[in-house]
Amino acid sequence: MLTIRPLTQAEYDVRVPALKAEYAADEVRAGRATLEDATERVERQFATLLPDGLATEGQLLFAGVVDGEVVGFLWIGLPIADRPQAWIYEIQVDEAHRRRGHGRALMLAAEDELRARGVARLGLNVFGHNPGARQLYESLGFETTSQQMSKALE
Ligand SMILES: CC(C)(COP(=O)(O)OP(=O)(O)OC[C@H]1O[C@@H](n2cnc3c(N)ncnc32)[C@H](O)[C@@H]1OP(=O)(O)O)[C@@H](O)C(=O)NCCC(=O)NCCS
Repeated sequence: MLTIRPLTQAEYDVRVPALKAEYAADEVRAGRATLEDATERVERQFATLLPDGLATEGQLLFAGVVDGEVVGFLWIGLPIADRPQAWIYEIQVDEAHRRRGHGRALMLAAEDELRARGVARLGLNVFGHNPGARQLYESLGFETTSQQMSKALE
């Protein structure tokens, strides 16, 4: 059974730089920026979102643990004035542990955590080039609320 516990500083120091690189690569893959611009933008976003790192108020970072082993990572933002729902900033299941239900279990753990805090709605962004994640969210009852479209002009 999967449980979540707060991320440690050592885990944060590994996960967050890797996540920044992935966010930037996603922006490039989506055709929204060059790697240089995306890297700069992601640095700015993270400085705003996590000004105090793990201690940032309203940001919850967890490790997902199965049988004593860390299998993934979850980052949730609590609701704020201009976004009155909680937000999944990231969910990751480490590659060797995928397709065993841990992603689903992490999402359900996030829902439980938020219900316990009285939060009524949860949102997230997902890239079109990530059909596996889209399928996971749809199977959990998430509905598309907006969609960005883009076309390469050659
Ligand atoms: C997305 C992610 C968290 C899913 O984790 P997981 O532990 O493999 O997911 P689960 O085993 O709980 O899968 C649940 C369901 O999601 C769907 N799914 C998950 N991965 C999929 C894939 N690669 N292709 C198609 N469907 C997939 C399936 O419907 C699956 O059910 P099934 O295994 O019974 O077919 C994982 O692939 C991951 O960490 N990816 C990299 C990070 C990422 O993209 N995060 C999402 C950012 S929006």
